[in-house]
Amino acid sequence: MSIIKGFSKISKSEKIGLILKSIEAEKSCSLIETEYKDSQLQKQFEGLSENTIANFHLPFGVAPNFLINNHSYTVPMVTEESSVVAAAAKGAKFWSEHGGFQAKVISETKVGHVYFSFDLDFKIIEAIFNNAKMDLLNSTTHITKNMDVRGGGILSLELLKVESLNDTYKIELKVNTCDAMGANFINSILENLAGNFTRKVRQAHFENHFKVIFSILSNYTPACIVESSVSLNIKTIEEIDGMSGRDFFHKFKKAVDIACFDRDRAVTHNKGIMNGIDALVLATGNDFRAVEASAHAYAARDGRYQSLSRAEIVNDNFKFSITLPLALGTVGGLTKLHPLSALSLDILKKPKANELMQIAASVGLAQNFSAIRSLITTGIQKGHMKMHLLNILNQLNASDEQIELAKQHFSDKAISFSAVRDFLAV
Ligand code: MEV
Repeated sequence: MSIIKGFSKISKSEKIGLILKSIEAEKSCSLIETEYKDSQLQKQFEGLSENTIANFHLPFGVAPNFLINNHSYTVPMVTEESSVVAAAAKGAKFWSEHGGFQAKVISETKVGHVYFSFDLDFKIIEAIFNNAKMDLLNSTTHITKNMDVRGGGILSLELLKVESLNDTYKIELKVNTCDAMGANFINSILENLAGNFTRKVRQAHFENHFKVIFSILSNYTPACIVESSVSLNIKTIEEIDGMSGRDFFHKFKKAVDIACFDRDRAVTHNKGIMNGIDALVLATGNDFRAVEASAHAYAARDGRYQSLSRAEIVNDNFKFSITLPLALGTVGGLTKLHPLSALSLDILKKPKANELMQIAASVGLAQNFSAIRSLITTGIQKGHMKMHLLNILNQLNASDEQIELAKQHFSDKAISFSAVRDFLAV
């Protein structure tokens, strides 16, 4: 393999030329067509990443009718998967007619760590840390002062052992980052702490036994937790999707219980929840990889991977709930830089971070409700294939008239690419 040297230094058109050398010419035109017309905006957009050769679009949809804590929301969603927005909207509408979602943030603490090794008695480093603690905290005020003013900042600093690893310790920093996701804030404090703690160890003449390994926030945020739930009396639902309310909700509970106990199902069940959450997280310019990583680690917090949602029926009262970590921000980062993230936050009426957490948890629950509703009644393929039919027809450049005819034709037939192609060829 030949190494491409200095790729980042060449111009964008040279990059495109290099990448497309072996690809047809029209493709390079379509790359340029993805750009924003506003050149300043395009420049800002390219600045988000490196070696940019095109803008990659994803559909931006909205799911209306989310009633959460008696507030009505239209939720922006960015996803490439058919049925996700439709399922969220269907779940939202159903529950808006049955009392809506009740959501609350349990806690908003985020953490980060300075990992280091020390090969003498723990008590020595513990004493150095305890003596240094106030100075360490004071040394970060230039980073924390604005956050302190907003009501956030450092909550605690603690020295802990790294389980099962000899001579390895961590300083655990707990913070409240208010409306910011706070990654830069946390990492800046940690790197500052690492430098200052190293100086303290040197002053105590133990530097030959001490080494900072690294400093980084933790994307596992089990203390940044939100809950959302819906409930109804099953006797009030006479019929739903051809089933009695009683049969439907008991079958529904069984489906959720399966995801609580069977890992094979739990992963798919949670993936469905994250379909909705990721779409909102992406639309609002938040870090969906961080949210995903934390949600799945949380799902396995008891040593067994299980469902993030729960269903119960007590005296005919059905309750469906979700609890998960969601470290989200509504200021800073991409939230302002991406023009569509700013639009998403406007559509949500400029929520605070804790409000966005509640919206995201409710979207996950709505998504999960609709997925299970389909699974236990018609199966998911009916809805999926209906959407997929449109994708196939568009791919085959079908006219509006052909689309209408195909929809009728395939309403009771199996849909596949070749079946649709054959139908259009007739
Ligand atoms: C598909 O993206 C998501 C589902 O598989 C979720 C689920 O099975 O609960 C439909």
